[in-house]
Amino acid sequence: MGKVKTLDDLRKMREELKSKTALRDKSEHSEGMIQVKVAMATCCIASGSRETMNYLADELDKRNIEAVVTQTGCMGYCYAEPTIEVTIPGKEPVIFGYVDEKKADEIIEKYIRHGELVEGIIPMNYKNIEDTTK
Ligand code: FES
Repeated sequence: MGKVKTLDDLRKMREELKSKTALRDKSEHSEGMIQVKVAMATCCIASGSRETMNYLADELDKRNIEAVVTQTGCMGYCYAEPTIEVTIPGKEPVIFGYVDEKKADEIIEKYIRHGELVEGIIPMNYKNIEDTTK
């Protein structure tokens, strides 16, 4: 956070803090919401996962889709980075690989919005931490 020199700087800072607080509130009440986890280990970041995560967060917000976008560690599908896991309430999580901005757009429009499957799904062979505690 930079120095505040003008009233506009202060307004900008206030907006940034408001959006961060809203994000935290969302993640605390995330049951029943679409969840998108982006693998963000070092190799993932080198493969563009940060850009993918930023794109997903911005576009879901712009398109008024209530979703929580969070980062996670390596999901074990390093060959297909950037990888994301999308969980739509009531459905099993789905992993997508090679998610650049174009693929992220397709996932938002087809899978998240309309429930249509898109190419790039990776068959899951791991359990979430939540699954192992049940
Ligand atoms: S290190 Fe990126 S998915 Fe494994």
